[in-house]
Amino acid sequence: MRTDAVAPVVGTRAPVSRAAGATSAAALEVQGLNQYYGGSHILRNLAFDVPAGKVTTLLGRNGVGKTTLLRSLMGVVRVAAGSVRLDGRDITHAAPYERVRAGIGYVPQGREIFPRLTVEENLLMGLATRPARTAIPERIFEMFPVLRSMMQRRGGDLSGGQQQQLAIGRALAMNPRLLILDEPTEGIQPSIIKDIERAIRRLAESGDMSILLVEQYYDFARSLADHYVVMERGEVVMQGLGADMERDRVRERLAV
Ligand SMILES: Nc1ncnc2c1ncn2[C@@H]1O[C@H](COP(=O)(O)OP(=O)(O)OP(=O)(O)O)[C@@H](O)[C@H]1O
Ligand SMILES: [Mg+2]
Repeated sequence: MRTDAVAPVVGTRAPVSRAAGATSAAALEVQGLNQYYGGSHILRNLAFDVPAGKVTTLLGRNGVGKTTLLRSLMGVVRVAAGSVRLDGRDITHAAPYERVRAGIGYVPQGREIFPRLTVEENLLMGLATRPARTAIPERIFEMFPVLRSMMQRRGGDLSGGQQQQLAIGRALAMNPRLLILDEPTEGIQPSIIKDIERAIRRLAESGDMSILLVEQYYDFARSLADHYVVMERGEVVMQGLGADMERDRVRERLAV
């Protein structure tokens, strides 16, 4: 009498058949998501899709609940109500490691690399759920050559921008189908922001990765967005095509 909807995602790295319940080309479908911290209602009936193979940027001012949303998507906080589907499969109550195995890569806000481990060890942490001796994918070093030249340095000795590249590299180590990034430009110098922008564009253009980019830096978000979603006070208040962000005056929604 098992009704465990979570089990099928575990270890599933083969392409998921679209016939298996998925009617749209959405990589991620979020429906009716509600979340609370104590008595505070943080996410309110949140609903949006991340279309497959595209970049979706989620914008919103400080404190609207962006990180809480991503933590809910990763299973770091339990979802109070609502559902999350990855490639048509319900992962609402899956454990974080199951989501990683199912193909989600996560770059947390503030990077959260391991400061006392080397760059190489940090990257290997990203491979922890793969068989032993799985190699670090070459494309990480093609994207961020600095990581190769700093393999034996401690993560904590890197600059903020290099740490951000390391955090993205760690998330890419598993070859995720869906990459989720939480404000990757925060506190990063402009030259490295450009490198990160190029890297995300390249991943998007490879066509086999879906990207959910949480940002407050409008120009960066605009330059990468195929689709946009705007959050205010835990709700989605606008969404549309990246190409329409100017016309839709999305920038004004971010101004304080
Ligand atoms: N662990 C927590 N316990 C209680 N309240 C929290 C906790 N984490 C966040 N909050 C509150 O929940 C709300 C949403 O926070 P969240 O970090 O999700 O916002 P955000 O949109 O990511 O903000 P920022 O742009 O500053 O990163 C805020 O009011 C915040 O103070
Ligand atoms: Mg945040």
